[in-house]
Amino acid sequence: MSRSGSVLEVLRMDPAAAGGTVTVNGWVRTRRDSKAGVSFIELNDGSCLRNLQIVAEHGHPGFQDLLAEVTNGCSLSIEGEVVASPGKGQAVEVHATRIQLLGAADPGTYPLQKKRHSFEFLREIAHLRPRTSTIGAAARVRSRISFAIHELLEARGFLYVHTPIITASDCEGAGNVFRVTTLDPGQESAAMPSDDFFGRPAYLTVSGQLQAEIYALALGKVYTFGPTFRAENSNTSRHLAEFWMVEPEMAFCDLQGDLELAEVLVKHCIQAVLDRCGEEVDFFERFMEPGLRTHLERTVRESFEVISYTDAVDLLTKSGEVFSFPVVWGGDLQAEHERYLTEKVFRKPVAILDFPRSLKPFYMRVNDDDRTVAAMDILVPRIGEIIGGSQREERRDVLLEQMRLRSIPLEEYRWYVELREWGSVPHAGFGLGLERMVQFCTGIANIREAIPFPRTPGHAEL
Ligand code: 4AD
Ligand code: MG
Repeated sequence: MSRSGSVLEVLRMDPAAAGGTVTVNGWVRTRRDSKAGVSFIELNDGSCLRNLQIVAEHGHPGFQDLLAEVTNGCSLSIEGEVVASPGKGQAVEVHATRIQLLGAADPGTYPLQKKRHSFEFLREIAHLRPRTSTIGAAARVRSRISFAIHELLEARGFLYVHTPIITASDCEGAGNVFRVTTLDPGQESAAMPSDDFFGRPAYLTVSGQLQAEIYALALGKVYTFGPTFRAENSNTSRHLAEFWMVEPEMAFCDLQGDLELAEVLVKHCIQAVLDRCGEEVDFFERFMEPGLRTHLERTVRESFEVISYTDAVDLLTKSGEVFSFPVVWGGDLQAEHERYLTEKVFRKPVAILDFPRSLKPFYMRVNDDDRTVAAMDILVPRIGEIIGGSQREERRDVLLEQMRLRSIPLEEYRWYVELREWGSVPHAGFGLGLERMVQFCTGIANIREAIPFPRTPGHAEL
């Protein structure tokens, strides 16, 4: 009886107990022929980083002709004996008794060569890049982190709420929204919003927070987790136009509770990667970031640093360090300031609390000093901001004042104000960027490699 197995399952078989027949399917990564009339085929099926070595004897009936077509990138179904491998690098290998070519790959045209390709080149072949070790490993890490997020929040009693992707509100108020319209480009300028599909202006969501707040104020602890969109014309290694964000929102919760959950969630994601993606961590440590494993282990073990914005500004101005952007109270922290804090001063994640009111959106709770809001940004070494969150303004009058200062039309946010009129409670939440979390766990330098299909200014492949 032949069992069917993934490459990972076969590789996990005990070589001492090996024996028996398996069927295994995959794509050929490389192939090498020995003078003794044997081909060694490296088969990968995406189940793990490692390849399975298939040994095919040229003398086996029918193999000679078939092997001529076994080239990099072709797909095979192999039946064979699992045996302990005498070679280095693997415990078991499969001695083929039957090889079926499922799909050939013309070596003259197949773009993936054995050599290392640049990530820029791989982005141009978005349909093939997951077949490379790095993008495959990134996909596995990303999947495990996503699962770990659901796992932790489910265990803590959160409900998963699906907030809309098409929305009528610009949560962050930063004005970098994509419009959703069915009007012809020619018609657009002349047409009234009421002529459009929804009868009003509509956008792709920049954050599910405001809708998550509605559910938190009815169900207690909720989270939304989905794609978010920002038309940011910033071509950096940490910005995407489409990225995934998990946003927990908790009723009866203040900034302290928010910070606690954020730290637990980040650590849970890292621990999941350490526990379930050990091979990938070793791989990324070797090719991306020396010391990655130690760094991740230390992050899980140590408490995050917590500092107020005001103290951070103080620390930066007194540091004696020369920055390209001056540090002034009331100004945004630049990447160089963030890096200085996380990489030079504290050497670990840093939660910065209580930002100046003017720097943050209208919904953040105004502190007693009247100058700052109960905001929380969590910065990590190398990446910078990985989490942005806050306690929300639950006092109707203060919220109205915040909106007035920013000229936010009351009409569009009446429902948000009404939540403060009827049964308002203190509540808080945050957003964790999934791709930045993937970057942190892998050392991937450019965020474009942390998502299957990156969308950035000028780029939307497929
Ligand atoms: O700090 P942000 O803008 O916060 C919000 O959107 C809040 N409404 C979240 C909340 O409180 N529910 O974004 C949160 C996180 C950032 O810290 C970052 O990790 C990620 O989302 N992020 C991006 N990731 C990739 N590309 C971009 N353009 C991103 N913008 C934000
Ligand atoms: Mg932010």
